[in-house]
Amino acid sequence: MDNKHFKRTLITTALPYANGPVHIGHLAGVYVPADIYARYLRLRGEDVVMVGGSDEHGVPITIRARKEGITPQDVVDRYHKIIKDSFEGLGISFDVYSRTTSETHAETASEFFRHLYDNGEFVEKPSMQFYDEGAGRFVTDRNVVGECPVCHAQGAYGDQCEKCGSSLNATELINPRCAETGNVPVLRETYHWYLPLDRWQDTLSKWILDGHKEWKTNVYGQCKSWIDLGLQPRAVTRDLDWGIPVPVEGADGKVLYVWFDAPIGYISNTKELLPDTWQTYWKDPETRIINFIGKDNIVFHCIIFPAMLLAYGDGYQLPDNVPANEFLNLEGDKISTSRNWAVWLHEYLADMPGKQDVLRYVLTANAPETKDNDFTWRDFQARNNNELVAILGNFVNRAMVLTHKYFDGIVPAAGDLAQADKDALAEMESIKSALSESLDTFHFRDALREAMNFARLGNKYLQETEPWKLAKTDMGRVATILNIALQICGNIAVAFEPFMPFMSEKLSRMLGMGNMTWNELATADVVKAGTELSAPELLFEKIDDEGIRPQIERLERIKKENQINNWHAEPQAPDVDFDTFCRADLRVGTVLDCQKVPKADKLLQFTIDDGLGQRTIVSGIAQYYQPEQLKGKQVVFIANLPPRKLRGITSQGMILSALNADGSLTVISPDAPITPGAQVK
Ligand code: 2FM
Ligand code: ZN
Repeated sequence: MDNKHFKRTLITTALPYANGPVHIGHLAGVYVPADIYARYLRLRGEDVVMVGGSDEHGVPITIRARKEGITPQDVVDRYHKIIKDSFEGLGISFDVYSRTTSETHAETASEFFRHLYDNGEFVEKPSMQFYDEGAGRFVTDRNVVGECPVCHAQGAYGDQCEKCGSSLNATELINPRCAETGNVPVLRETYHWYLPLDRWQDTLSKWILDGHKEWKTNVYGQCKSWIDLGLQPRAVTRDLDWGIPVPVEGADGKVLYVWFDAPIGYISNTKELLPDTWQTYWKDPETRIINFIGKDNIVFHCIIFPAMLLAYGDGYQLPDNVPANEFLNLEGDKISTSRNWAVWLHEYLADMPGKQDVLRYVLTANAPETKDNDFTWRDFQARNNNELVAILGNFVNRAMVLTHKYFDGIVPAAGDLAQADKDALAEMESIKSALSESLDTFHFRDALREAMNFARLGNKYLQETEPWKLAKTDMGRVATILNIALQICGNIAVAFEPFMPFMSEKLSRMLGMGNMTWNELATADVVKAGTELSAPELLFEKIDDEGIRPQIERLERIKKENQINNWHAEPQAPDVDFDTFCRADLRVGTVLDCQKVPKADKLLQFTIDDGLGQRTIVSGIAQYYQPEQLKGKQVVFIANLPPRKLRGITSQGMILSALNADGSLTVISPDAPITPGAQVK
């Protein structure tokens, strides 16, 4: 890290919407990496401040409030508390965690807007927008639904169709409806203030494209495509009754756009923490500002907020780096607050007490730094058992137990060093430098791998030196080996502090270490000879299948519920003429016998009385029925399909089933007994 030009670092973390709790995607993308970085800089003795807070404005909060019959303030009070407490529970070490409904924030954001307004930094423009006459309010594009003009799916949003991915304008929807009320919206004229980003095109282009080639490729690339397209004015106000009122006379019913006020929240938070010195962290060129965000926030942090800061002037500094992450998926599917497809932090902390570090570890080892990644409970279990327990915990435990066994738990002094000892010390040096380099450049996955190398080194060192074999012949040598092994343990306590602070604290207590600093890393004097170790305690516990079963079952349950809730009938198929339809010979048959097809999970083999004789039909419904449930039942089948071979069995027809919302199949059966062979008309 080139610290020469910087006296201090301001770390900002994207403000989570107080519209739901925080989930593992937020953590992996923003808060765990930011916390690792802040803790690392603190260990290095740097002047660092990490600010955060809840983003408490925006339309979704008003919708949730109406749905629940409470006020938006009730909604954000509830989630702000859950979010703040759960961050604390995970050890995210904010210096301040505030909220955008605070008084300081309202003043700061209002003043910011007014300053730009007074300096002519906005343009005012009329526009047409959907209005819900029944509800008496404007509706955002997102909150209008209808038929997609491209793929004709129902339930497309006014800004995007989730079925075919097309970007839309609400006015393009076929049969538009307000999502909340079902009313047909009408177009109405309104006006808003716009930040003319085009005025900042050249400055931003030089600043990012020429000046910050070192930014992550995903961040740099996104900025480049925005800039290459040509920056357009962006509206910074909305017609809404929840938010910070636009501080201009006559602008009743208008508030600041949530994305205008939220990043100003970083400034308000700093003010709340440091009422007297906050300006140093924002306006002194010797401060380095780092914005930790997810990839969906790149344009706001790299283009729009910088343009706001430039427009304000007065010495505001732009971020030095914006190490945005990609997304974390959950068990192969996109995390979604509205579909409850998430592992919620507050629930994790309640369900898995004492396992904060396991989550921190897994989310870092699997961090979506360069591409989207997937969180699975199996991977969580495997990393805990095969890495934390088997490599890290095992090494520390061996070193502790051996010291208790041979030296009554007193750290022995090292004597002359053998080659193996010197090699271990040299290896510690090289781990430290790779680890620091990775942390300095925001490569936290690599950094964690390097930190684990201390534990790998420790296991290898004990395996090679085998102190237990020397206890009878050379206690001096045993003393040196265990001293070095304990130094490696001490190094683990320091190196892992940014990643797993709970484990680090416990380990440093067990080792009788004082305050930790990054400087001590790779030295052989982290744990002092003569110190009395505490009784060895296990740092990590194995997690068996039972430990993750409730989590997996919960997700399976949610998946089913979502399938049912989000089900839309398929659009109608193209017409067939009547004669074609009549050529299909549909009959009722009685199931005489039904068996599972060996080695085929999905298939059942039926013997059907078809009125003319018996026929065999193979049907793919074995996941939904036991054969016994179907024996004696009457079913509808297509009699005149050409015979088909399935798993060596010739199937003479097809049994009709209906596809349920959850993907299961239900056979179609007449509602009163019918003579086998009866035609279905
Ligand atoms: O995407 C989000 O969750 C936003 N609430 C992030 C805001 S970041 C900042 F600008 F405050
Ligand atoms: Zn579509």
